Amino acid sequence: MKVFITGGAGFIGSNFIRYWMRAHPQCEIINFDKLTYAGNPANLADVAGQPNYRFVRGDISRPEDVLSALDPDVDLIINFAAESHVDRSIENPAAFIRTNITGVQVLLDAARERGIDRFVQISTDEVMGSLGPEGYFTEESPLQPNSPYAASKAAAEMLVRASHHTFGLDTIIIRSGNCYGPYQFPEKLIPLMITNAMDDQPLPIYGDGLNVRDWIYVEDYCRAVDAIITRGRSGEVYCVGARSEKTNLEVVETLLRLLNKPRSLIQFVEDRPGHDRRYAIDPSKVEREFGWRPQETFESGMAKTVHWYQTHRPWVDAVRSGAYREYYQRMYGHRKILKPSH
Ligand code: NAD
Ligand code: TYD
Repeated sequence: MKVFITGGAGFIGSNFIRYWMRAHPQCEIINFDKLTYAGNPANLADVAGQPNYRFVRGDISRPEDVLSALDPDVDLIINFAAESHVDRSIENPAAFIRTNITGVQVLLDAARERGIDRFVQISTDEVMGSLGPEGYFTEESPLQPNSPYAASKAAAEMLVRASHHTFGLDTIIIRSGNCYGPYQFPEKLIPLMITNAMDDQPLPIYGDGLNVRDWIYVEDYCRAVDAIITRGRSGEVYCVGARSEKTNLEVVETLLRLLNKPRSLIQFVEDRPGHDRRYAIDPSKVEREFGWRPQETFESGMAKTVHWYQTHRPWVDAVRSGAYREYYQRMYGHRKILKPSH
């Protein structure tokens, strides 16, 4: 079997490739990635030399890049490639439209042209918008995206659905909650807070810190994706979550405890515009159809994650240098500091 994985140099993609090569050692992999700020070849340094792994640099929104890298004997496309950070989408949505929407249509067209057996779109719970204090997202929830990022991922889902319906392409859409674990770029909540705390820098919590996210350890997610890809039904949507809802404040307090750092590092700052209040997934379909369950609790996953960042200082220093410093200054430099409400 030959698999074409896009975005494999990013956070989830690199964890998935490492996982997949262990789980399916006979399989050949092409990792197709543009290497944006979020793509990092160092994330896969340990597998790069293996004979069944090949890296191709290219852009999913450019048909010529995709078609020249997509060997005719590829069986499966898994699309992890995306612009993935909500705050960047608020600052400048253009790249999100190009990669997350145009890029997906380019991949769908290429999949059809090459007669690929299955196309898997890695989507997000954010396409379903924001929940109140009660209730859960399911596969039947309406698409109500609120950020430019979420809107671009919802548009991608619609294009995948249309390719299935109109052209009979074998497709699957997987929506997960917030993933965390090794190799996550420190613009997202957990790695940003860990790496700031490691350096005794302030921890910028947006608004009142009571927004809720549903967290899943990346390796648990990779096992779920494997089960869905190999046993899931064409045309279906699958929601993956670990039943692990936490407020942002609870997440940061857990990290501070694991790192043995003081609560005084917390700084409440001006909220994200349009900030979704709560995400929570009902994963019953995936549990029922595949018997999948997460292996990590939030505590054990967080302990592993903190340990990984503490023991990979050179990786942390490399990704937090250069353009990251400008990004951080741009994103946080002018944010008003709020007085904590509690
Ligand atoms: P990431 O930002 O860490 O990695 C994205 C990767 O895609 C990078 O390697 C980047 O170089 C590559 N890429 C970007 N634009 C490209 C293009 N035009 N052509 C080819 N490659 C391109 O993202 P992630 O956190 O690993 O997320 C992976 C996927 O999972 C995304 O589709 C994202 O929407 C989805 N997702 C992520 C989370 C999460 O918590 N991280 C949750 C739900 C869904
Ligand atoms: P993030 O990791 O950006 O994921 P998403 O917005 O896609 O869920 O943010 C997770 C939560 O953490 C979200 O409620 C916003 C909040 N947050 C902060 O409070 N401070 C920060 O510096 C960041 C990056 C996020």
